[in-house]
Amino acid sequence: MSGPVARAYAELLAAGELRPDPAQKAAVTALDRLATSGGGFLSRLLSNSPSGPEGVYLWGGVGRGKSMLMDLAFEHLPIAPKRRVHFHEFMLETHARLRRLREREEGDPIEPAAEEIASEARLLCFDEMQVNNPADAMILSRLFARLLGEGVKIVTTSNRPPRDLYKDGLNRELFLPFIDLIEREMLVVAVDGPTDYRLDRLEGVEVWHVPNGPEATAALSRAFFQLTDYPVEDRAKVPAEELAVGGGRTLHVPKSLKGVAVFSFKKLLGEARGAADYLAIARRFHTVILVGIPAMGPDMRNEAARFVTLIDALYEHKVKLLAAADAEPEGLYPGGDGRFEFQRTISRLQEMRSAEYLAEGHGFQN
Ligand SMILES: Nc1ncnc2c1ncn2[C@@H]1O[C@H](COP(=O)(O)OP(=O)(O)OP(=O)(O)O)[C@@H](O)[C@H]1O
Ligand SMILES: [Mg+2]
Repeated sequence: MSGPVARAYAELLAAGELRPDPAQKAAVTALDRLATSGGGFLSRLLSNSPSGPEGVYLWGGVGRGKSMLMDLAFEHLPIAPKRRVHFHEFMLETHARLRRLREREEGDPIEPAAEEIASEARLLCFDEMQVNNPADAMILSRLFARLLGEGVKIVTTSNRPPRDLYKDGLNRELFLPFIDLIEREMLVVAVDGPTDYRLDRLEGVEVWHVPNGPEATAALSRAFFQLTDYPVEDRAKVPAEELAVGGGRTLHVPKSLKGVAVFSFKKLLGEARGAADYLAIARRFHTVILVGIPAMGPDMRNEAARFVTLIDALYEHKVKLLAAADAEPEGLYPGGDGRFEFQRTISRLQEMRSAEYLAEGHGFQN
C-alpha cells in the first residue's frame, strides 16, 4: 500500500492501535485514490482525461471503523481547503444557506449554494449520511450533482448501502438518480467486517443507572456535585439556564453548572424538538445527566427518533452522558418504527460507557 492514508493506517497498525482488517484496507486504498483524481466529472467529460473517483462512500454496520477511516482521510489527504462535518449539521446549515439565498435573489438557490460550498472546501467529509424526508432528498440530489461535477471530493459514511438510502421514503423515484450518481461517481466500499470494535473497547463504568428511582437519583446527584464541586447543601440554588438554540428560540435547562446540565426525558424528548436543539446542548455542555428514560414501546416512536438524534449529537461532540433509565440500552426500544436506526444508538450508548470515551475531552468539530 502507498499513498498518504495508507501510510497513516499502516503506522497505526504497527503501533498496535488498530487491528488488521481487510475491509478497512480496501477502504484505505479507495480513499487514497481521491488524491490522484482530477477536476470533476464535468471537466472529465470535456477533456477525456483519465477518470478517477469523485468521492468515497463507506457503509457498514456499527463500530466497523467508518468514522475512524474518514478521519484518517480527512487528516492526511493533501486536498485543501477541507471540511469535516456531521451530516445533521450540514443539512441544517444548508437549509439556512438556501433560505438566505432565496431572500437575496430570485431563481434557483441550489446552484449558488453549491458554488459557495465548493469555494469553501475542496474535500468534504460527511459522517452518517441519512435521508429522512423528500425535501432533503431533493436538495441533496441536486447539491451533490453540482459538487461532484465541480470536482469537490466527497467522503461519506452510512450504515446503509446507497440503494437503501431513503428506503421506503415518499416519492422515492425522484431520489433514484441520486443513487445512480453515487454509484457512478463515488467508490462505494463496504466496511462491514465481522468485528464491532466499539463493543471490543467496552468497560462497565457506572454511568447508566437502572431502574429509575431513589437509588439512581441519589447516585446521579452525587455525581453532579462531584463534577461541579458544588456544596450539596446548596442544591436548591443550582441555577437554571435559557440556552439559545438558533432561530431566536431557547431551551430551558433546569440545572446548569460548570458545563454540566441536568434534563428530564419528558421535557427533552417528549416535546417536538430536533437536531438544532440537541446540537446546541452538545456544544454547550461537556456532561449531560438525563433522568427518567422509560422503556419505549412502538407508540413512542417519536421519542425514540428524537433520542437517536440526541445521542448522535452528544456522541459527535464527545459529551459524557449519565443516565437513569428503566432498561439497559439494548432493551430501551425493542421494537417499532426506526428500530434499525436505534441499533446505532445502542452501540453508541455502550461506547459512551467505556473508560476510553469517558477519558476523552469534550470534542468540538469544525
Ligand atoms: N481496526 C481496528 N482495530 C481496533 N479498533 C478499531 C479498528 N477500527 C476501528 N476501531 C475503533 O472502534 C471504534 C468504533 O469505530 P468507528 O467510530 O469508526 O465506527 P463506525 O463504523 O463509524 O460506527 P457507527 O456506524 O456507529 O458510526 C472507534 O473507537 C475506533 O477507533
Ligand atoms: Mg461512525
